[in-house]
Amino acid sequence: MKKRDHATPLSENKHLLRWVEKMAELTQPAAIHWVDGSQQEYDELCAKLVAAGTFFKLNEKLWPGCYYARSDASDVARVEDRTFICSLSKDAAGPTNNWVDPYQMRRKLKQLFSGSMRGRTMYVLPFSMGPIGSPMSQIGVQLTDSAYVVVNMRIMARIGIEVFREIDKGEKRVVPCMHSVGYPLAPGQPDVPWPCNSEKYIVHFPETREIWSYGSGYGGNALLGKKCFALRIASNIARDEGWMAEHMLILGVESPSGEKTYVAAAFPSACGKTNLAMMIPPAGFEGWKVWTVGDDIAWIKPNENGVLHAINPEAGFFGVAPGTSMKTNPNAMATLSRNTIFTNTALTADGGVWWEGMTEEPPKECLDWQGKLWTPEIAAQTGAKAAHPNARFTAPASQCPSIDPDWENPHGVPISAIIFGGRRADTVPLVFQAFNWSAGVYIGATMGSETTAAASGAVGKVRRDPMAMLPFCGYHMGDYFRHWIRMQRNLTETPRIFHVNWFRKSEDGRYLWPGFRENMRILKWIVDRAHGRALGRETPIGWTPRYEDIEWSGLDFDRQQFEEIQAVDRKAWRQEVLGHEELFIELHDHLPPEVIYERELLICRL
Ligand code: GTP
Ligand code: SPV
Ligand code: MN
Repeated sequence: MKKRDHATPLSENKHLLRWVEKMAELTQPAAIHWVDGSQQEYDELCAKLVAAGTFFKLNEKLWPGCYYARSDASDVARVEDRTFICSLSKDAAGPTNNWVDPYQMRRKLKQLFSGSMRGRTMYVLPFSMGPIGSPMSQIGVQLTDSAYVVVNMRIMARIGIEVFREIDKGEKRVVPCMHSVGYPLAPGQPDVPWPCNSEKYIVHFPETREIWSYGSGYGGNALLGKKCFALRIASNIARDEGWMAEHMLILGVESPSGEKTYVAAAFPSACGKTNLAMMIPPAGFEGWKVWTVGDDIAWIKPNENGVLHAINPEAGFFGVAPGTSMKTNPNAMATLSRNTIFTNTALTADGGVWWEGMTEEPPKECLDWQGKLWTPEIAAQTGAKAAHPNARFTAPASQCPSIDPDWENPHGVPISAIIFGGRRADTVPLVFQAFNWSAGVYIGATMGSETTAAASGAVGKVRRDPMAMLPFCGYHMGDYFRHWIRMQRNLTETPRIFHVNWFRKSEDGRYLWPGFRENMRILKWIVDRAHGRALGRETPIGWTPRYEDIEWSGLDFDRQQFEEIQAVDRKAWRQEVLGHEELFIELHDHLPPEVIYERELLICRL
């Protein structure tokens, strides 16, 4: 087949052409490649990455169409302390975001990007977040010097020619996304497998709707359609236009009678969204089915009848590998069995991948995520992990066995319930329901969770992570709560709001709840409550199920265990409310009155 000349622009949009030209002048790439999004192009880029030592092609018999990459040891997760919201005023970004004066930041970026792509190809990568042409979709163009980013983005978003056609129609605003790994090559200088820079900047300009990312090639730092666009920039667009951009999975629960109920759930990073979204119901739930719409991000908007509808703006899953197994998440295992990119897992002797928790028996030996020999013996002695805790798979959503028939519906799916959840060893019960929307907003706003390896920094510390959006809300968190309160006013149907905690532990440190597919029992109560069918008991923090309100067939979990995991300890909760205070002191001048009153009510009830 004849090779396409990649340098020929694939768009006629004058703004786009001028911007590409200007950015090439700034970054000085050796070549420009307009990304058409074809399979052939993908295969060529993967071959190029193999030749460069970035990719290793996995055993085609075991892992058809799959590649393996190891990142630089310093570039393994999102860098929250290097993430900036550069709004015109500091107050608009709020105290939970890093802010730098936009003029000053532009000067810095100009300096950083100046010549930053020397010796490399600059890819012009057009992408649509949401199905192409959907009224709920948004368009961006990422200029990047990373072929790894291009092939990952082809799985995570809709990219290529059809998006250029959308841009050429000129109907939708295009979000410009600049990305450089910050590792220019002098003539003759050999490349490294994972180019990156120790200086990192993940920058957002909310007013001009721009993203500039420098120094990292990993995940949310570099795949700019994901957190940077679909959450930080989109949350700004959503506030202005009256919709919501949320860090939420979307799933559909189908009952044996065929009733389908869609639910969205916000859990912080590495706290169980992918697992819940793909759940297979346990024994005792014959005839029930969970359908997957999305596993990480939801764009939610009232339709013309005042009912909230959600789309998944993504086209793939960038999922946490460790802990994923045929036992915990068989649908994820099926999804990632082919055409998948693995990053920072371990590499086995037969050309496959492995990670902690994937199989009961670890491999006798493998190469760990840094390419060093790993054996179970070494692990026992040193505690070394074969896979990095934030090792990830990039897999097409279309390959998921439980993908919902409506997952690409341009108008989205109707949302009947919203679930908040965190990783909490104590205090917070397995499940409770908010008394109403504003109490639910308070519950979401004060969510706490132990930090995970998804972001660099300490792991296991409880921090306030409002609506799982602390690292992703692109404006003042108090205004974001206000937007949540306001969203309900024009709805004809208000989704019920719940809180779950799959991670409560006993005094001796064991999980009190089996989790994973057993979470279906809780999901069923939530669905029944959303339809006004199930009973509950009133507690100071909300409605909770009684033992007999949960379907237990197929699981040995007695009343006493249930009481332990559902316990609402007033003393511990009075302490918990004090923990809410730090957030409130920070945000006080922007907090909506509803949230302040909800806090007072909660204190009174306790
Ligand atoms: P991001 O992609 O970072 O946004 O994460 P996520 O919210 O999609 O989390 P994911 O489903 O990938 O789960 C993260 C980790 O939590 C994995 O190691 C899972 O095995 C584990 N996990 C998920 N669900 C449960 C559960 O119900 N119980 C327990 N104990 N662990 C769980
Ligand atoms: C998260 O950290 O919430 C993720 C992974 O989904 S990343 O895309 O790296 O942000
Ligand atoms: Mn996430």
